Amino acid sequence: MSFATATGVHASLQSAAIAGAGARPVEVQVDLALGLPGFHLVGLPDHACNDARTRVLTAGDLRKQGVAFDLPIAVGILVAAGLVPLPERPPLVVGELALSGEVLPVRGVLPIGLEARRLGFQELIVPEPNAPEGALVQGLRVRGARTLAEAAETFSGTNLRAPASPAAQTAPAVTADLSEVRGQATAKWGLEIAAAGGHNALLIGPPGAGKTMLARRLPGLLPAMTFEEAVEATSIWSVAGRLQRGQGLLTVRPFRAPHHTISVAGLIGGGTPLRPGEISLAHRGVLFLDELPEYGRSALEALRQPLEDGEVSLVRAQDRATMPARFMLLGAMNPCPCGHAADPDPDRCTCTLAAKEGYRRRVSGPILDRFDLHIEVGALLPADLLGQPQGEGSGPVRERVERARALQRRRYAHIPGLHCNAQLSGPAARRLANATDEARSELAALIEIRGLSARAHDRMLKLARTIADMQGDERVGKAHVHEASQLRCLDRRVDGRPPPRVPQLQLARGAAVHRAPGAQPAGLPREGT
Ligand SMILES: Nc1ncnc2c1ncn2[C@@H]1O[C@H](COP(=O)(O)OP(=O)(O)O)[C@@H](O)[C@H]1O
Ligand SMILES: [Mg+2]
Repeated sequence: MSFATATGVHASLQSAAIAGAGARPVEVQVDLALGLPGFHLVGLPDHACNDARTRVLTAGDLRKQGVAFDLPIAVGILVAAGLVPLPERPPLVVGELALSGEVLPVRGVLPIGLEARRLGFQELIVPEPNAPEGALVQGLRVRGARTLAEAAETFSGTNLRAPASPAAQTAPAVTADLSEVRGQATAKWGLEIAAAGGHNALLIGPPGAGKTMLARRLPGLLPAMTFEEAVEATSIWSVAGRLQRGQGLLTVRPFRAPHHTISVAGLIGGGTPLRPGEISLAHRGVLFLDELPEYGRSALEALRQPLEDGEVSLVRAQDRATMPARFMLLGAMNPCPCGHAADPDPDRCTCTLAAKEGYRRRVSGPILDRFDLHIEVGALLPADLLGQPQGEGSGPVRERVERARALQRRRYAHIPGLHCNAQLSGPAARRLANATDEARSELAALIEIRGLSARAHDRMLKLARTIADMQGDERVGKAHVHEASQLRCLDRRVDGRPPPRVPQLQLARGAAVHRAPGAQPAGLPREGT
């Protein structure tokens, strides 16, 4: 590709524009033949191009378009006019320009730097405040310019600005530790399983039990981000304009907890120019929806597709983009409007059965079936509150989680894009879970007795697979299935009564084990349905 050209009255140089969570090349062509500067931007969709031309010619303001061509256009004009010599290997240039000639910072410099490197550039000129961010891209020299004059001199090589050093890794924020949560052993164990398999989880319990406290400790249980994951997440934050000046790669998995009044656009992304939403800011981390039934139905519905695909497609009148959005979904809710449905004292709860059902229906249609775990968080016992905080810290839990993840990566190594149990499709779970016949029968019996769907079957199977991985067991056995069923309390009826237990279970299992080994249990769809 030609990096730049100049022919007396004409100059062309390379820039780049944000596209989704990445960047795409844009060629800036400047023509002085008619006396007035005219220019073209090649590489953008027509409408954006025309828009940008008009904006620059009239007001010089491209910021609303989310592109940063003022600086390359201005440098191009100087080159075309013969005021600045064209170097042999010109750098790629991005930046905005104030009328004073000051270069203003822009969003998306990390993805633009990655794109510049991909295009074969070795030099990048960016606004001074963005230079440490661009320098995160290895193999690229990034020079920051404060003014148009500095940019022009650096561009031509007559007076080079020094290359920037990469932004320092920000020390990981002191994340809250699991040991601070008193009691709640079962809920902690559930959270550990969720982390180990990458499962979406819903915490259910009365107010003040520690649901929010537990949720905030999930990122500390997850494996450290790989370099690639950190670059992905940081690029999104850069495009969103969320990076602090001089901030390096994100080192801690993001934890996003948007309030329930958030708009659909705020949640999944949108606006002009398109900006990442909370689900993309949570990419490679955790999206926490506290007080889940309070979220708007349309917001919860909008999460379904991204949860399935790990990305979100955004289409606006003049713009379309796909943004990564692979996150763990963590929800929290009370068991009923008053919050005390599960209290040992039945008089504590003042809700009617209809009120309880209505409350649960707010989540059951739009999103409930996306949670692998429903973790019961019981009211805190006075003894737990009074005693010393006890129990494991996040560190040892994370080590177990990492070991379980390693087993999963090895098992799924031959399947591109599949890393953890939560990602298994239903058919894949049935094919790859490696469950014993006894475990399959047990699962089929549970599903039959509780009157659950095929989807619930597959989710419980995946969960059982993760429990087996936590225990280092190659095969999913009956005990794992049982433990998995304990982590899905909403499979029980809304009146709070537990599902029928052992006697019926024995009967049903007796019926189930007479099927031929390996045969599909009755009542479940076959592979591929
Ligand atoms: N299990 C617990 N261990 C220690 N402190 C707790 C626990 N549960 C609640 N708390 C205290 O009560 C406060 C409220 O807890 P929170 O997590 O907001 O409860 P929930 O979200 O279930 O309503 C916490 O900030 C903490 O100080
Ligand atoms: Mg709370």
